[in-house]
Amino acid sequence: MDGHQTTMVTAGPVAKAQLDVFYVTCWVTLVIFVLVGAVLAYATIKFKARTDADEHAEPPEQSHGNPLIELGLIGASIFALVIIAVPTLKGIWYTYEPPAEQKENVYEVTATGYQWWFKFEYPKEQIDGVGSLVTGNELVIPAGRPVVIQLRTVDVIHSFWVPKLAGKVDMIPNRGNHLWLQADEPGYFWGQCAEYCGDSHAVMRFRVIALAEKDFADWVAGQKQAARTVAATAQAGADNAKVQFASFKRNEYGFTPKWDANATVSPLDNWKQQQFPAKDENPALIAQGRKLFTEKTCAGCHTIRGHEGIGITGPDLTHIGARTTIAGGLLENNPDQMARWIAHPDVVKPGNKMYTTGYLPNNVQLTDADVAALVAYLESLK
Ligand code: CUA
Repeated sequence: MDGHQTTMVTAGPVAKAQLDVFYVTCWVTLVIFVLVGAVLAYATIKFKARTDADEHAEPPEQSHGNPLIELGLIGASIFALVIIAVPTLKGIWYTYEPPAEQKENVYEVTATGYQWWFKFEYPKEQIDGVGSLVTGNELVIPAGRPVVIQLRTVDVIHSFWVPKLAGKVDMIPNRGNHLWLQADEPGYFWGQCAEYCGDSHAVMRFRVIALAEKDFADWVAGQKQAARTVAATAQAGADNAKVQFASFKRNEYGFTPKWDANATVSPLDNWKQQQFPAKDENPALIAQGRKLFTEKTCAGCHTIRGHEGIGITGPDLTHIGARTTIAGGLLENNPDQMARWIAHPDVVKPGNKMYTTGYLPNNVQLTDADVAALVAYLESLK
């Protein structure tokens, strides 16, 4: 019952309120099921034809029913509906917006659906000369505070769903929807688009990372920084790079065995480790990758703030190296998966724009060495 996307184990008040309504409905309907089943079983056994004479007997006299029983049944139905309706209506109001006494404490972000990834904007975090802080596919929020999420879409209908934190709400073209959620404790949560939105709907995922106040402030400060530049050294040459990537498999789930129940590293700790640069960085290879990012037209669709690119078609990649996932929350962010995603976007996420309108149809060729350099560059963007 405690999978990554279960609704039966909740981590915040909104999901809890929704689970409570589910249980009330379950118990009431279970009582009805048992009562109706018992009456049916009683009637079936009691009035069963037991002899030949029974089988050929005239049916009993038919009547229009007993007013007392019928009124009783109507009354019982209304009673059952009221028992369900009262917590349901309370839940609808509660989940619509955060409680009034929490108004001061609300944090607000905007989530926008794209085919097939999520953009997150932080209007409270302004960057001089740029505007709001923008990230992709990993929504980092302060734990213990209500977070109001404005829901938008640039194309078709998507649905924003973080099962352990809140139920799904649609992102509808030309209509402003919103939801609120709260993670009571710091944690790492799985999210998923929950409305069919085209070829790769099923792999349109995201993560929500809830951090303690201090960690969240540190994260925001780090994200506001322009992209990280790794100083090149004279010794290392790009040609020295012998990068071997693991063989490709078709879409696996995008998280490694180390996140299993037996693992010693929790997903949240894994995310925290991801914020630090790798120890074996190759500055020359990274510099080569930065050059290729423009030459191979990546910069046309992506932005790496402080480096190159002003594209808004694809996710902002300023700090992509610090995310635990790539490709819209589908793949774990490591050099193998990054190489796979860059070289075979069509296999990883069928129909995506990197493939259908991006560099592949425009005959932009990537050699293995190009992919290695781009991977090294992107992974350095902590
Ligand atoms: Cu977006 Cu399904």
